Amino acid sequence: MTDRRPLVAGNWKMNGLSAAAAELDALAKALADRPAPACDVMIAPPFTLLAPFVAAASGTPIAIGGQDCSHLEPGAHTGDIAAVMLRDIGATSVIVGHSERRQDHHETDDLVRLKAEAAHEAGLVAIVCIGETEPERDRDQTLNVVTTQLAGSVPDAATADNTIIAYEPVWAIGTGRTPTAADVATVHGTIREVLVERFGEDIGNGLRILYGGSVKPANAGELMAVANVDGALVGGASLKAADFDGIIDAYR
Ligand code: G3P
Repeated sequence: MTDRRPLVAGNWKMNGLSAAAAELDALAKALADRPAPACDVMIAPPFTLLAPFVAAASGTPIAIGGQDCSHLEPGAHTGDIAAVMLRDIGATSVIVGHSERRQDHHETDDLVRLKAEAAHEAGLVAIVCIGETEPERDRDQTLNVVTTQLAGSVPDAATADNTIIAYEPVWAIGTGRTPTAADVATVHGTIREVLVERFGEDIGNGLRILYGGSVKPANAGELMAVANVDGALVGGASLKAADFDGIIDAYR
């Protein structure tokens, strides 16, 4: 039996002005004042807030991550952020292949894998997102889609220390809808089997698999109790410290 320490990660997406640092302080205070959760905690703010968040999170259990990185080396690439820059500013992980980037920026599995490899090279943990759209789900393609995305997006050099998988059904993101616990168990179980088959027992069972999509304090307990769910990737409910802490409660 492999011990996988859960992770509750907040993806702030394109939200947050300077004043939002108050939420990080409130979260740090909640973590200090309340019983310590048996999970890691991470916030991925927009690039503009990385430096102040790294400073504010120093000395707290909160890790700071990026929401994306370039697959390229630093150089003439206007508007891009290299993985090494995230590492340099104090981030310890980076989300790659979020469905919003796959859709809005036409990111392919190949590109996502290159980004994850760039993250590894820079010493960052790559949080690789996968998940089916609603039409794919309606056509019963969920397991095919996630299996294909896993094969194409996760680098061969993935280990339990440098990679985390995040299963986010696209239709559940920001909609208030979630799969049933049984459906989550089926998808996470399939992901686990695929990982064990590809990477062997040690790495395959050691890799953490997060669930993301409309996780709230009210449903976190049930979702986090599902087999092979090793934490959450949270969007909207990570923006307010009280809500995010309410999700972290699943591990208290
Ligand atoms: O990456 C997290 C995200 O896509 C889930 O968003 O707002 O449904 O929790 P939300």
